[in-house]
Amino acid sequence: MRDALIRALRDAVRTGRLAPGTRLPSSRSLAADLGMARNTVADAYGELVAEGWLTARQGSGTRVAERVVPPEPAPPRTPPAAAVPATRPTYDLRPGQPDVSAFPRSAWLSAARRALTAAPNDAFGYGDPAGRPELRRALAGYLARARGVRAAPERIVVCAGFVQGLALLSRVRAKAGHHAVGVESYGLNVHWNVIRGAGLRTVPLPVDQRGARTAELDRLPGLRTVLLTPAHQFPTGVSLDPDRRAAVVDWASRVGGLVLEDDYDGEFRYDRQPVGALQGLDPEHVVYLGTASKSLAPALRLAWMVVPDHLMDDLLAVKGTGEWQSGALDQLTLAEFIDSGAYDRHVRGMRMRYRRRRDQLVAALAERAPRVRVTGIAAGLHAVLRLPPGTERSVVQGAAWQNLALEGLSRYRYRERREPDGPGPAQGEEPDVLPDALVFAYGTPPDHAFTGALEALCRVLP
Ligand SMILES: Cc1ncc(COP(=O)(O)O)c(C=O)c1O
Repeated sequence: MRDALIRALRDAVRTGRLAPGTRLPSSRSLAADLGMARNTVADAYGELVAEGWLTARQGSGTRVAERVVPPEPAPPRTPPAAAVPATRPTYDLRPGQPDVSAFPRSAWLSAARRALTAAPNDAFGYGDPAGRPELRRALAGYLARARGVRAAPERIVVCAGFVQGLALLSRVRAKAGHHAVGVESYGLNVHWNVIRGAGLRTVPLPVDQRGARTAELDRLPGLRTVLLTPAHQFPTGVSLDPDRRAAVVDWASRVGGLVLEDDYDGEFRYDRQPVGALQGLDPEHVVYLGTASKSLAPALRLAWMVVPDHLMDDLLAVKGTGEWQSGALDQLTLAEFIDSGAYDRHVRGMRMRYRRRRDQLVAALAERAPRVRVTGIAAGLHAVLRLPPGTERSVVQGAAWQNLALEGLSRYRYRERREPDGPGPAQGEEPDVLPDALVFAYGTPPDHAFTGALEALCRVLP
């Protein structure tokens, strides 16, 4: 009865039925009216006085507190009709996520069970912002073996996705007095915005059929940081030309610069051994960033950085203000998943699955859309389909009418006006705007939907 009375009085004050300053009946008379014990009413009044809803003064009785009662929050607005897609696309073929229907649920669950059973008590407390030692050890071995990364566990920092790693590194660079980061002229706007969110400018580096033109870094005198996708440029799908790999590492060691290597899908290369990580060439000037978002699932929010010694303290100082650490139990599970060999098995299985789809795509295009040239297929989970000039917009639009979500290559082009001191195309090289194309994420649909998705794609191609 006491609790019900408290709730009713709070409600009356909140909704304005009891106006500020209103004098309440004495506890004795309210108790008599409600058929309650006087103590129950006095107790409820006492509680509401303590919470600040009522005031009690000698001689003036109990009153509703004189304060502005905030209005009831408005009910959530229904989003405007345009923001809600009328229907979900039948096939969503935009790049971004792997085939999440293939997440290895039972292997993950058994790894989680084993990890939880073996977890020391300290795993349940506040841990090291760098991450769980078990995971850092497991990653050090895996990255050296699979990606040629030179990684001691002490140099690994676990983070909540590549995007968090990029945000942290951007803050570290801004704190150290840097003003800008070079980015590839085709890429993800969301990443450029993360860099800008740390107060840094982004400066585009042209991308052509051999990757980013890293030689142009020399033309940007103040620049000391560059973000690249060397193994499989996103979105064009080319790997960085060996000369350009060497050029960027030379540049970094000459000017004391830093390369941020986004190795988002480095595990998925189909026709030969994966291109090793750039970090292996110069671990003091390259931060390697890997993620579980393509190999397992974006929802895990697990990624890792391999950090040069000289950056480690600054990075952990920034990470310790706000982010602290990723969930320790998922970190332990991933460590167990890697150590038990389940990660390698899963990646191997997925590589075969994606490769099969890629081959199906190439065969289907050769037969059904001979005017379309497929590129960027040596690795990754998406391909670039070169279209006849001037058709990109109409193909994307035509696909939307068929309820097929597809994206054109131009959507990924860096659009901000060039900085006056920005790089221009070098003589004899391709201009910065790449030809009309579609970015087709053959990795995204579940297996059972892939043939249908491919069929739908072929129907909208010229
Ligand atoms: C180019 C690129 N980098 C990085 C990532 C991974 O981001 P995160 O680890 O934050 O999920 C993605 C994911 O789709 C990507 O496309």
